[in-house]
Amino acid sequence: MGRQLLINDLDKPGIQTLEGYKACGGYTALDKALKMKPEEIVEEVKKSGLRGRGGAGFPTGMKWSFIAKPPGVPRYLVCNADESEPGTFKDRFLMEKKPHILIEGMIISSFALGANVSYIYIRGEMMYVFHILEKAIQEAYDAGLLGKNIMGSGFDHDLYVHCGAGAYICGEETALIESLEGKRGNPRIKPPFPAVKGVWDCPTVVNNVETIAAVVPITTMGGDEYAKIGIGKSTGTKLISASGHINKPGVYEIELGVPVEEFIYSDKYCGGIRNGKKMKAVVAGGSSVPVLPTDLILKTAKGEPRLMTYESLADGGFQTGTMLGSGGFIVMDEDTSIVKNLWNFTRFYHHESCGQCSPCREGTGWMEKILHKFLDGHASMSDIDLLWDIQGKIEGKTICPLGEAAAWPVAAAIRHFRSEFEEYVKSGKNMKDVKHYYRLNNLETA
Ligand SMILES: Cc1cc2nc3c(=O)[nH]c(=O)nc-3n(C[C@H](O)[C@H](O)[C@H](O)COP(=O)(O)O)c2cc1C
Repeated sequence: MGRQLLINDLDKPGIQTLEGYKACGGYTALDKALKMKPEEIVEEVKKSGLRGRGGAGFPTGMKWSFIAKPPGVPRYLVCNADESEPGTFKDRFLMEKKPHILIEGMIISSFALGANVSYIYIRGEMMYVFHILEKAIQEAYDAGLLGKNIMGSGFDHDLYVHCGAGAYICGEETALIESLEGKRGNPRIKPPFPAVKGVWDCPTVVNNVETIAAVVPITTMGGDEYAKIGIGKSTGTKLISASGHINKPGVYEIELGVPVEEFIYSDKYCGGIRNGKKMKAVVAGGSSVPVLPTDLILKTAKGEPRLMTYESLADGGFQTGTMLGSGGFIVMDEDTSIVKNLWNFTRFYHHESCGQCSPCREGTGWMEKILHKFLDGHASMSDIDLLWDIQGKIEGKTICPLGEAAAWPVAAAIRHFRSEFEEYVKSGKNMKDVKHYYRLNNLETA
């Protein structure tokens, strides 16, 4: 299976509790960190090569070093636990199974950043995880791991969990900050970036759950050791949420660099395609990244085996590559309709668009309606070009990347599976199940 640094020890009794976590070496990294200088921790994180696990893969140590330090102004750390990207479910798994690794990571990271207050912003639907975190935080307060003078170090820190109301847009870091401040979750125009003007207009770092949890093993083993795991600029381990038509869906912690073929077919991971079917396509990093057909997900255009790394998955750009994204790995078998799958994703983005920017607000709706025409059997060939045109008019023209998240899947589906769209037009295929969905939800069919 390779080394596991985050979801190891899940079988140990009481790992969810402070006592069980400590019995497995929990909070020794915090003890070590509090004896270091904050800038030494930032240096270790830089050396580790850790890249943000929320999707964009931005180097964490570099992000931390951007935080503004005006005298007398508080700084904040915010953990992004919104996790709403379809296909991604690793953060909730980690928080549910091992909440103290996130709390320990929050305290170490806050100490490194000089933040006396931090927040975990969690998606509203994950109420059960909210309660698990609240319980774990109370345990940490009771043990003197949070609050005043943590472990006699002189460092004070308060940690709050804040529940969102279940909006995908609130995963975008500036919308998240707005929502945390009690406002409607609309993304902010950048600059200024959160590192200069974030929560309450103060310097803020926003990091994903997995990124912050990874700070714990990095502190324990040192940045150089962590960087030895993985390949090139893809260092360390990564949680992958594997779903779709595979034999063993679930959350896997991989060492970055595992060949995609091994990840899909080996019994250590996904265990191959269900019911002996052939694989048709993979969405490798959550619903917003480009879908790739089997030949391109297994091998790059140069014929090299595709690896589970940021670089290898992106090889070839969007013509032949995709992205590791948030690690939401969705496998589709030969019976899957790419058009129907795309309609489903697009319906989601239309629903979740905050409406601030017209290309996204209007474009996502138009794309959903046009895709529905294909499924309902009355699209024409020119609708394929119209879809292509609309997605191109959303990409790069919005305040936040939700526009790209909606546009990229459409572009990739047309790029790699155009013939399937044409087939729908030619055969006027009538997707009864779509009509059924609409009937169930008392919606008008287009
Ligand atoms: C529409 C949208 C939704 C997002 N949702 C999430 C999310 O649920 N969790 C997350 O960590 N990052 C999400 N992001 C990325 C964040 O804006 C931000 O880049 C991330 O939290 C930074 O953390 P990292 O550097 O540790 O990856 C989203 C971005 C966009 C545009």
